[in-house]
Amino acid sequence: MARIGPVPEDRKEDFLRAMGVPFSFTPSEKDVAGFLDEWDHEWLTAAYDDEDRIVATFGSFPFDMQVPGGSLPTGGTTVVTVMPTHRRQGLLTRLMRDHLDTARARGQAMTALWASETVIYGRFGYGIASEDRKLELPTQHAKLLDPPDITGTMRLIDKEEALEVLPAIFERAHADRPGIFARDAKWWEKRTLADHERHRNGFTAMRITIHTRDGEDVGYAMWRTKEGKDGMLLQAREVVGVDAEAERALWQFLFGVDLVGKVEARHRSTDDPLHWWLENPRALEQTISDALWVRPLDVRACLEGRRYRTDGALVLDVTDPIYEDVAGRYRLTVSDGIGSVERTDEQADLELSIGVLGSVLMGGHGADLGRAGRLRGSAEAIDRADLIFGWPVVPFVQEIF
Ligand SMILES: CC(C)(COP(=O)(O)OP(=O)(O)OC[C@H]1O[C@@H](n2cnc3c(N)ncnc32)[C@H](O)[C@@H]1OP(=O)(O)O)[C@@H](O)C(=O)NCCC(=O)NCCS
Repeated sequence: MARIGPVPEDRKEDFLRAMGVPFSFTPSEKDVAGFLDEWDHEWLTAAYDDEDRIVATFGSFPFDMQVPGGSLPTGGTTVVTVMPTHRRQGLLTRLMRDHLDTARARGQAMTALWASETVIYGRFGYGIASEDRKLELPTQHAKLLDPPDITGTMRLIDKEEALEVLPAIFERAHADRPGIFARDAKWWEKRTLADHERHRNGFTAMRITIHTRDGEDVGYAMWRTKEGKDGMLLQAREVVGVDAEAERALWQFLFGVDLVGKVEARHRSTDDPLHWWLENPRALEQTISDALWVRPLDVRACLEGRRYRTDGALVLDVTDPIYEDVAGRYRLTVSDGIGSVERTDEQADLELSIGVLGSVLMGGHGADLGRAGRLRGSAEAIDRADLIFGWPVVPFVQEIF
């Protein structure tokens, strides 16, 4: 039986090469160097066969993730792979259990991930907590109503300057958005702005444009282009403004890049205002997909770690497929927007799984889960839950991790 264990520094390259098989890439020397630099070996776990070869990989790293009105210590789940020779032998199940136990021991209130396939993680207690949109727009329709005059307000900068300027804009723009996770300086450098060749897929290097207003940097766009059959495709990676005016100006800039036939943007929030700004919003193709999956580990810390728009109380009966000590009844009482939680024997208002708790925790779901039968209780209790858990800013996570 395969052994689950840590990944020493000198096995990190093996780890990356093993990951390349299920994830379908062959790492270049540059990729190896980047991975060795980027990844702390203590966040990696592997399964080893009898000859000590890595046959499954798992990454578990700590970060702070924003929840409505606050943030929570979270375990990020990533680089999950099992070799084709060892799939469906329970390796993911063992690695995941190890990850969840470790996250609990580290005091992380929840764990979070992006799923390559939606069928994988529900069984471990994860629920969909945010969705995002891919936007596509042919340039003949890339026209804003009342286009702003942006002459002289945009400048292209290099990575070095971006590392100085982007973090403050990002933090200001996303201060109240559940799902956003804190990027430290290393993350900005090694992840967000890394621009690895193997992630380019025929696109140019990432261009970074800064928008300035009254002498202040108020937004940025990360974008790149590639030749397409109907002119160039411009892919906007991040378009971030500190307010709507700044974001509109950045779109105006991107829509004006010459020789472009189509503009696309990945990972936009479901409340992205772009279609409200377009002359012809119907021309904007939108594809919605699940984004963040959340698995609460400490129900009390999760519910007390966020804020609420409406005061009230709810008794929740939570099921958990793994942890018996997490399952059970909790009374949530919200007063002045602050929640307090205690264990209770009272009759439950609502029954829900721990994954559904992950979905309502981030504020993007409520009554819809009642309609779907995932939040079970009287119509009045579901309505109350919708009011209590709902949050005006929909959850959104800025990038795949
Ligand atoms: C997804 C993956 C990690 C699963 O690993 P695994 O070791 O085969 O999973 P397990 O054997 O622990 O499976 C546990 C259960 O989940 C089910 N399951 C796991 N992955 C599944 C998938 N992709 N589709 C459907 N069912 C899946 C198994 O059938 C099993 O069900 P059972 O308990 O009813 O028998 C592996 O298939 C893989 O590496 N895929 C390619 C890379 C990838 O997509 N990684 C995930 C990145 S987010």
